[in-house]
Amino acid sequence: MTEDIEKQAPLNIIIAPDPVLKTVAAPIDKVDDDLRKFLDDMLETMYIARGVGLAAPQVGISQRILVMDPARGEADQSPQPMVMINPEIIWRSEELNIFEEGCLSLPDYYVEVERPASVRVKYLDRDGKSQEMLAENFTATVLQHEFDHLNGVLLWDYVSKLKRDMAIKKFTKMKKEFDVL
Ligand code: NI
Repeated sequence: MTEDIEKQAPLNIIIAPDPVLKTVAAPIDKVDDDLRKFLDDMLETMYIARGVGLAAPQVGISQRILVMDPARGEADQSPQPMVMINPEIIWRSEELNIFEEGCLSLPDYYVEVERPASVRVKYLDRDGKSQEMLAENFTATVLQHEFDHLNGVLLWDYVSKLKRDMAIKKFTKMKKEFDVL
């Protein structure tokens, strides 16, 4: 995996707080080669950052696109990259799951989030074809986390206002210090 470490990610991941991470992203109206190139860049950036999911707003593009590879979370699984354009959650199970979630836009910040254990999602694939998928367990959580990004929702929106304000303060300070370096 050393080549991964040395490799420069094609896209820059935006760290919160940032206005683009709070914005409701716009739908894609055309799936073309430029978009497919962007999808590949998103996947490569996600793998290099060792993430299991990435949404376009996290690289500064306010459009309804997400990529994920929940299998990446388990070492013995081979890569299973997924891309979703204009995803819509059309069904949510009543059964809930709790996972401790992290986010590439919130380094070293983890929140236990309760979400529907299964969801059915409708989306366009990289050829612009309409697809449907039933996501379950960890895959459902990753999908809903990335879907949140398309609606300007971050992990700290799942904690109390007090805890959220503390986290925002910490990340604002961290970003300022990083800018000075
Ligand atoms: Ni995230």
